[in-house]
Order: sequence, then C-alpha cells, then structure tokens
Amino acid sequence: MASLQSFLAVKPAAGWAAPSRRARVAAFLAPPPPTTAAAVGAARRELSAASLAVVDGEARYLVGTYKRSRVVFEHGRGCKLYDTDGREYLDMAAGIAVTALGHADPDVCATIAEQAGKVVHVSNVFYTKPQVELAKRLVEVSFADRAFFASTGTEANEAAIKFSRKFQRAAHPESGDPPTEFLAFSSSFHGRTMGAVALTSKSQYREPFAPVMPGVTFVDYGDLEAAKKFVRSGRVAAVFVEPVQGEGGIHSATREFLQGLRDACDEAGALLVFDEVQCGFGRTGHLWAHEAYGVEPDIMTLAKPLANGIPIGVVLVKEKIAAAINYGDHGTTFGGGPLACQTAITVFDKITRPGFLAEVSRKGESFKQLLRAKLSGNPHVREVRGVGLLVGVELDVPAGPLVDACLDAGVVVLTAGKGNVVRLVPPLIVSEKELEHAADVIRDCLPALDVVAAA
Ligand SMILES: Cc1ncc(COP(=O)(O)O)c(C=O)c1O
Repeated sequence: MASLQSFLAVKPAAGWAAPSRRARVAAFLAPPPPTTAAAVGAARRELSAASLAVVDGEARYLVGTYKRSRVVFEHGRGCKLYDTDGREYLDMAAGIAVTALGHADPDVCATIAEQAGKVVHVSNVFYTKPQVELAKRLVEVSFADRAFFASTGTEANEAAIKFSRKFQRAAHPESGDPPTEFLAFSSSFHGRTMGAVALTSKSQYREPFAPVMPGVTFVDYGDLEAAKKFVRSGRVAAVFVEPVQGEGGIHSATREFLQGLRDACDEAGALLVFDEVQCGFGRTGHLWAHEAYGVEPDIMTLAKPLANGIPIGVVLVKEKIAAAINYGDHGTTFGGGPLACQTAITVFDKITRPGFLAEVSRKGESFKQLLRAKLSGNPHVREVRGVGLLVGVELDVPAGPLVDACLDAGVVVLTAGKGNVVRLVPPLIVSEKELEHAADVIRDCLPALDVVAAA
C-alpha cells in the first residue's frame, strides 16, 4: 500500500472532515461485500460543502452533456492537481492529452501574461506576428507547406473536410460530380460537429443528431483491402485516419496499412488526412505520430497539446490543397489569435528542445514495462499497449470502477475505447517516479474491478 502513502498523508483544507486513514483504505482497496454499484458509490469520498456547492451548481445551471467525476479541481503544478478540499492528485490525464508541459509551466504562464498584456484578440481581418511565426515553425518541421488555424480539434477536422472537397472541385474542373465522399475507420474519433461527427465511428455520437454529413463509409481500422476497394471507386475526396487512435482505445496503425492508404489515395487522386489531434505534437515521442511510419499525409489536423490548454486547432496542408482555397472559402473569428499562437510557440520551442522527445519515448517504454510487470497476473488485465506516453490498459470489464478507485486514491486516469480501456496520457514532463506511483496505484486499485465483475 506504499503507493497510497502520500495521498493519504495530504493535509485536508480547513473545514473538511477527513475520513480516517483506515476507513479510506478499507473503502477503496477492500470494498464492502460485492453487491451493487451502490456499494461502490457509497465508498466514494465525501466532498466538503464548498465542493458540493459546485457540484450542485453544475447540476442546476449547466446543460447535462458531461457525466463528470466528483472532484472540483482548483489549481495545478507540474503533474499535480489540487482540489478545492486541498487534496493532491497525480494527473495522468493531462486534460485529455492536452497539458503537455503540465500545469502552471513557468514559461507558459509568462507567455500568457505577457501576451495578454499586449493584445489577446484582433480577428483575422488583420495580420498578427504570432500567427505567422507559429505557422512558420509548424511548416518548417513537417510535410506541409501552409497552415490554417482554428480553435479546436473538431474545427480543424471540419476545415479539413471543406478543404478536401474544395480541392477535388478544383482538381475536376470539367466534372459536375467531383469526388465528395469520405472514408473513415472503426473506433475512429474526429470530433462532435456535424462533419467531424459523421467521420466518428460510434453510432451513439451520430444517430441522435441525424442527418449528419452524408457520404461517409467506415471500414475496419487496419483492413487495407476494404479501404483500397472503396478508395478505388473514385468517389472519395479524402481518407481520414488517426495514426494512433486515442479515444477509440489506443490502437496503433501499422506501416503497411498507412503506406497502403497512401498508395491507394495517390492512385485514385484522393487525399490522405492524418488526424493527429490527440496523438500528434510529441505525445508518441515523435513530433508527429506518422514519423514513426515514414508515411506522409496531404493534410494533418492538430489541436489538443499545442498551446498547453489554451484552445487551438491547426490544419497543415500541402501547397496543392492551399492553392484550391480562395479568400472567403473558410474562416473563423478566434482561430490563430495572438494569445493561443504565442503560447503554442512557447510550447513548440520547449518540446522540440534536444532530447525532450527522446525522453518521452524512453519514459513511455519504461512505463509500459512497469505496468506489465505490476498488472500482469490480474485476470481482468488483457493488454498494456500504446506508443510514447499514449498508453492503454485493456480490461475484460468496464474500466469505470478502476478509474473511480484511482481518483479516490489520488491518481487521475481516463477511460477509452468501448469503456474497457484505461487511458494514460500524462503531461509529457512526467517523471519516472510519478509513473511508478501511477502504476502502483492502478495495481492497488484493481480489486475495484472484482466488485463490478461479481455484481
Ligand atoms: C483524434 C481526435 N480528433 C478530434 C478530436 C476532437 O477535438 P476537440 O474535442 O478539440 O474538438 C479529438 C478529441 O478527443 C480526438 O481525439
């Protein structure tokens, strides 16, 4: 139980009546007789009145789109988060693979403060230096010739959809029926707006809002023959694929699959779009996830970690695509604003420092080994997989109770896939010691899965 020591030792905020150390261990690691989910719920930590007021306020005033975990975070430092009751957590989620440099990174803080003191927003009616400087950096280290800035991942994909169709119109000037369809894959996630959600495989994200963008065909991730067959139909404007799927359960493509898609797109004149919103910008230990495969796209979308939590989305394109886009074809009020771009420059400069990405690779490998060593033998653990610091632990049961138990034990982790994968995407600055602590806590919390399995 050494892994719980530091969490249990945290000094609670004034006014919060902490359950005894013994009660907390008993509640989370030796749960009461495995009866129902209610037993698990009863074991959850109590919240202070101040935290409960936030939880109640959310229920009263917010649209109920999120089933949130019962913790109210107040501030963070590095890989640690602190709740309103003074408890410390190790953050292995990074705000869903966003805060690459951790919380309150001094350079990011200084950049935000400095830029906020200069100018935050002027719109894309005017030039601003940070936008051009960031585009230059991204283009110089990628396959791309030009950048378009948005504010989120879904918006970046929405722009990539429009750019693909516009490109095909320009490429088939005589045709009244240019290719307009899209190919996407099982377990894909590309966002929640009407185009991006149409490319997202989970039907429960699409069907309540039908009709979403028509003309999307899904084939199994990795099924190159099925993909080729559809691309050869000549109806495909673009193929959207994540080199490593995050939301869908931490599945990595093979080189053969991505190269096969590249070849099929080249033969048919379709565009290849890599969605690196989650897996790109250092997460896999490469600046771009696709570098590991030696296959380049025509378009790449990015978002999450770029500005360490300040909203940003990017579409990187080859010149031939940019050439098909005219003034007024697409736009956004907020995309490419000076605050987000200047912050992204700071993040870019830090993660491209010599050795930084090699460390991400090294830590990712040793973390997977550690998890395999500590979790193997538990009958619920099927596989530990992933690339760099995008790691998944697949279980034979829903991961929710384990995720909850880890939170209660002071480690923030996420689910992915069909809900049976624990997703571990810590800030890229995470230390070996923190990774070991996370692996210990996950191991110690595995009994939470027995409660549900037996229910
Ligand atoms: C691969 C991928 N694409 C797109 C998105 C959508 O990004 P956003 O939530 O910023 O709209 C996500 C979000 O998880 C993602 O993982």
